[in-house]
Amino acid sequence: APQVIAMDGPAASGKSSVAREVAAKLGWIYVNTGNMYRAATWAVVESGTNPEDEAAVLAVVQGTDFQCTVEGGRSVIRVNGADVELQLNSESVNRGVSYVAKIPQVREILVAMQRDVGHTHPSVMEGRDIGTVVFPDALVKFYIDASEEVRAKRRGLQGHADSVGERDRIDSTRKVAPLTAAADAVVVDSSEMTLAQVVARIMELLHE
Ligand code: CDP
Repeated sequence: APQVIAMDGPAASGKSSVAREVAAKLGWIYVNTGNMYRAATWAVVESGTNPEDEAAVLAVVQGTDFQCTVEGGRSVIRVNGADVELQLNSESVNRGVSYVAKIPQVREILVAMQRDVGHTHPSVMEGRDIGTVVFPDALVKFYIDASEEVRAKRRGLQGHADSVGERDRIDSTRKVAPLTAAADAVVVDSSEMTLAQVVARIMELLHE
């Protein structure tokens, strides 16, 4: 099996922080696939394109150069050579990303990059479809969940306007790679757990 630990789950479930810490503990690469969909969305917004206009979005994405490298223990995504990481959590990206992410041809481009990283580096990879589509043969799969109320609160604390309920609705009902736990994923409900407790629980499960 590829040296990949899949960590999927809905928006603001805490999976980014968990994945980052688990990767650090293992000395594996942390791969944030949401940032790839966000980078594509950033390019779309930057070009003045409406994220809901599927044909126009696809044209922008196909005309943009996305590059994924591994630096300092994590994946970094570049758009036409520029590191745009600091611009990926803006309100306009939050609002548009689920529309961009439901276009099958956009997913194909980004999934190919994700498979490249996973095949060349031991990775803790977080997203929505890592265990179901990107690496169905991942070493271990986790699905980090939390109640919508807790997730809205966690996102609110980070200071970005983000309608997590609306993104989840679009992410779970799209035709390709909808958000769902893989049949063989270990589901961890983090609603009543601290970050440290979730990380400890996952490390425990990994050592079993
Ligand atoms: O961090 P947060 O949970 O807010 O979201 P994210 O992981 O940055 O993902 C942003 C959006 O990208 C999601 O709402 C999905 O629409 C999309 N996404 C996806 O479709 N597939 C993935 N593997 C990762 C993200």
